[in-house]
Amino acid sequence: MSLLVVDDLVKTYPGGRKSPPVEAVRGVSFSVEPGEFFGLLGPNGAGKSTTIGCISTLVRPTSGRILVDGVDITRAPAEGKRRIAVVPQTRNLDHDLTVRELLVYHGRYFGLPSAEREARADRLLEEMQVSDKASAKPSKLSGGQQQRVMIARALMHDPQLVLLDEPTTGLDPQARRLLWGTLHELHGRGITFILTTHYMEEADRLCQRLAIVDHGRILTLDTPAALKKTLPGAQVLDLWVRAPEPLAPRLESIPGVQNLERVEVEGDGDGLERLRLFVDPKDGLLDRVLHSVRDGGADLHHVNLAQPSLEDVYIHLTGKELRD
Ligand SMILES: Nc1ncnc2c1ncn2[C@@H]1O[C@H](COP(=O)(O)OP(=O)(O)OP(=O)(O)O)[C@@H](O)[C@H]1O
Ligand SMILES: [Mg+2]
Repeated sequence: MSLLVVDDLVKTYPGGRKSPPVEAVRGVSFSVEPGEFFGLLGPNGAGKSTTIGCISTLVRPTSGRILVDGVDITRAPAEGKRRIAVVPQTRNLDHDLTVRELLVYHGRYFGLPSAEREARADRLLEEMQVSDKASAKPSKLSGGQQQRVMIARALMHDPQLVLLDEPTTGLDPQARRLLWGTLHELHGRGITFILTTHYMEEADRLCQRLAIVDHGRILTLDTPAALKKTLPGAQVLDLWVRAPEPLAPRLESIPGVQNLERVEVEGDGDGLERLRLFVDPKDGLLDRVLHSVRDGGADLHHVNLAQPSLEDVYIHLTGKELRD
């Protein structure tokens, strides 16, 4: 049985006097199997936090059903809460308590006996590599350390399903990598995760399956490898050019170019355009492309040839870049 079933979830935030209603989630369905690492990948405002909020019972769905381990959480929210932990997007550590107290209080709230909550707190702080901060107030910790404390706190009541809402946003690359390692390890021990992110690389590394979401809808859902396989060519050749006339017709007619997409470049006031060619880069294809750019009188600004990434999938689906 799936650990989580989200069935046709809709959330419309009611409008106010001056603001219209917001259709944040518009019919989202997916399920997560026990032990899976599942991702929701999408840009700002896609509806990721709203979806997480509905699963964690903090946001009341407009319609749809959410089952956790077979239990309908809109009917039995207490049951759901016990099985789920959420690490919210905005850090919400109580600044009057020490790090260790935060964990112990959380354990008490969930009814853990005293000795057990003390022992668990120490073990989790150790595992999250923040035990040296046990007696510090959260405000004395770095962003990465605070994030680790939030995860430690979430794990106190031994949840089956952990919801991580953009856990590495705002962290520096080193702290991000460290956290990826930790999450990977926790997953290896059987915890089921749902992660939201707008970092392609994060989704690719951690998630076994993921849904790409935009404007409150799932655009596609599969394993990262399968998503990348849906792209038309073996590799992606990206060209950033300034051209006096459209280059696309020229480039499209080159044998070996299977598909071409124009991508919106943000702030492209200076006439820079990004063309993405899905190619099989053999038999002098690169040469032909570069010649063709020159013949078109274009100024080649930058080139990149790569294996398809999740970013390519996103651009292919939406025609936009997903900005970090
Ligand atoms: N409490 C609220 N009241 C009204 N509108 C809201 C509320 N919360 C979110 N929204 C709106 O719902 C839409 C989806 O927001 P949500 O926070 O779910 O997106 P997100 O994918 O988590 O974005 P981000 O990547 O920026 O965190 C947005 O248009 C947002 O402005
Ligand atoms: Mg969010």
